[in-house]
Amino acid sequence: PTRAIGIDIGGTKVAGGVVDENGEVLLRARRDTPHRSTAPHVVEDMIVDVVQELVEAEDAPVSAVGIGAAGFVAADRATVVFAPHLSWRHEPLRDALARRVDLPVFVDNDANAACWAEWRFGVGRGESHLVMVTLGTGIGGAVLLDEKIQRGRFGIAGEFGHMQVMPGGHRCECGNRGCWEQYASGNALVREARSLVLAGSPLAADLAARVGGDVHNITGPMVTEAAQQGDPTAAELLAEIGQWLGIGLANLANAFDPGAFVIGGGVSQAGPLLLDPARDAFRRHLAGRGYRPEARILAASLRNEAGLVGAADLARDAVLRDRPDE
Ligand code: BGC
Ligand code: NA
Ligand code: ZN
Repeated sequence: PTRAIGIDIGGTKVAGGVVDENGEVLLRARRDTPHRSTAPHVVEDMIVDVVQELVEAEDAPVSAVGIGAAGFVAADRATVVFAPHLSWRHEPLRDALARRVDLPVFVDNDANAACWAEWRFGVGRGESHLVMVTLGTGIGGAVLLDEKIQRGRFGIAGEFGHMQVMPGGHRCECGNRGCWEQYASGNALVREARSLVLAGSPLAADLAARVGGDVHNITGPMVTEAAQQGDPTAAELLAEIGQWLGIGLANLANAFDPGAFVIGGGVSQAGPLLLDPARDAFRRHLAGRGYRPEARILAASLRNEAGLVGAADLARDAVLRDRPDE
């Protein structure tokens, strides 16, 4: 069997799909999670539901279920150790699911899954050393060196979102202050847009008008749309995120020296409005600039399906390794 189910679990949704060996998504199913503090067993029920819906709709056999979860996943690929934006703490997710879905289950970090997908089927194809950064609710990260995802001793490698880039800065759900994801994520973009509107700045007139003055209705995609329609303030907000992104990437270049960075997640839909300022800041902050090769900074090509595609492919791979005859 060459098909696998991939499930992407983020702060607001459970998105699933049946994925073939070429990374094509053949069927989709999705549930919205009501709230970030939704109890683990409720999310678990939703995952089981999505898997059942997909298995029933698919007529070819499915070999495994891969989960990409927005949190720290232990090296055993079974347990979600901690998730800043979800209510999972030492959650034995793999075993809980395997009891209920009757298929082998593998759990991975969402950004690791996305990185794998972009490398196998997306913009990272052919590059042996990749670093993936996803900008959404938080910042997800993954490191692929010599064609292998690096998980670290405890599974937690690639948690770039919690690098502390601003001592004493904004508080983060991980418990610290000044984390990178407080400055370069979708949440950071929304926070900054809201604060500009709340300050009553005339510069925020376009954004304020879009939400009838109610800052709670400001979203990331809305800021991107405003920027694309010519609002200079929205473009400035994205450029600021881009600058923080570029500085972080310059640091990561020193740590991992990849051939390319792949930038995914919702905010990356802003394209050049985000990536041009990021490239610019990257060049200005790269140690030894002018004397070293520069990694490329690429927009992810699988959009919001990278997580589920990668989770499915990693799971299929793991099954094939256990049972090579299939
Ligand atoms: C979490 C990561 C996750 C990322 C993106 C971060 O806050 O620590 O595990 O990959 O958000 O969802
Ligand atoms: Na990761
Ligand atoms: Zn943090």
